[in-house]
Amino acid sequence: MAYEVKGVVARGKGQPVTVETIVVPDPGPGEAVVDVQACGVCHTDLHYREGGINDDFPFLLGHEAAGVVSSVGEGVTNVAVGDYVVLNWRAVCGECRACRKGQLQYCFNTHNAAQKMTLADGTELSPALGIGAFAEKTLVHSGQCTKVDPAAPPTAAGLLGCGVMAGVGAAINTGGVQRGETVAVFGCGGVGDAAIAGAKLAGATTIIAVDISDRKLQWAKGFGATHTVNSEETDPVEAIKALTGGFGVDVAIDAVGHPKVFEQAFYARDLAGRVVMVGVPTPGMEVTLPAIEIFGRGGAVKSSWYGDCLPSRDFPMLVDLYLQGRFDLDAFVSETIGLDDVEAAFEKMHHGEVLRSVVVF
Ligand SMILES: NC(=O)c1ccc[n+]([C@@H]2O[C@H](COP(=O)([O-])OP(=O)(O)OC[C@H]3O[C@@H](n4cnc5c(N)ncnc54)[C@H](O)[C@@H]3O)[C@@H](O)[C@H]2O)c1
Ligand SMILES: [Zn+2]
Ligand SMILES: [Zn+2]
Repeated sequence: MAYEVKGVVARGKGQPVTVETIVVPDPGPGEAVVDVQACGVCHTDLHYREGGINDDFPFLLGHEAAGVVSSVGEGVTNVAVGDYVVLNWRAVCGECRACRKGQLQYCFNTHNAAQKMTLADGTELSPALGIGAFAEKTLVHSGQCTKVDPAAPPTAAGLLGCGVMAGVGAAINTGGVQRGETVAVFGCGGVGDAAIAGAKLAGATTIIAVDISDRKLQWAKGFGATHTVNSEETDPVEAIKALTGGFGVDVAIDAVGHPKVFEQAFYARDLAGRVVMVGVPTPGMEVTLPAIEIFGRGGAVKSSWYGDCLPSRDFPMLVDLYLQGRFDLDAFVSETIGLDDVEAAFEKMHHGEVLRSVVVF
């Protein structure tokens, strides 16, 4: 029997989102239905609504969520009804050429539910990142459910499902930050501040936060930034060099997703350093760099999908660090809101008033 629940839908490019009745089918083979308890508002949801990801409207938004498994389909063994899970958007297949090489974090064929959720009139919905969790229930592939310690509240645990994992992983997994290294993070939203927290966890001793908002820079200090630079007032490349003996940082992370910012990150890096793009550019954006600079500086230019995480390895580990008081997930939660407030939350995000608004059910 299918369920009818409320969900947040983006019907067209740039149109305000609406709360609509959506139909969630019973889970088929390999699928699970999850009662969502909390779901954070990520900038990627706004990218979807603005048509910046693709044109497969209508979207069922929300993808940074925790909840409880309410039913499972045939053949599901990794989770059972009642399990407390964080949803992930990269359920590895185990069989593609990346997985066969043991590089599961790059899986080229990640799983989503095969069935579709729909509007009441039968129109098929595209769930954001294959999740769609601004809804009381959602249908996912069972591999998208990662069990974590239920002692962590859903408002905190759910954040691992996207932005926080992407940021922490950009620093630790993709950037490979080591003890004693210098790091610069451009863009101090949920993703950037998580990269700062990740760099701190990894033992970086200089962590430079760059943003265009003083309020965001103030918050970044709370996550471990040792220095801040307002890039609207000061040239960030020069400022970062001045803070690192004239050399630049070992790891520079673009957590904005804009060519200008990526270029700043590229030039703010020391010789043989790593530059990581974790912010998501829109399809029309282009970066132009002198080839000799790419060659001559050595090191690595990398992008970071989901912080190159393995949910099965990283979600329980970060929840444990949270429960031990070593990683403050609660600090990312600026406000808890209802389903009707997502559009207002986009507005607040746009104006830099929040780090994360989290929908609670
Ligand atoms: N790679 C991934 O897997 C992944 C996962 C989640 C989110 N993202 C992307 O990461 C980016 C950040 O997401 P978020 O949720 O933290 O967004 P956010 O809106 O909360 O934060 C963005 C921050 O960037 C700052 N900013 C804007 N323009 C800037 C500039 N020119 N220079 C410096 N700072 C600037 C803003 O003031 C804000 O603090 C988005 O592009 C999002 O789509 C990527
Ligand atoms: Zn695979
Ligand atoms: Zn996201």
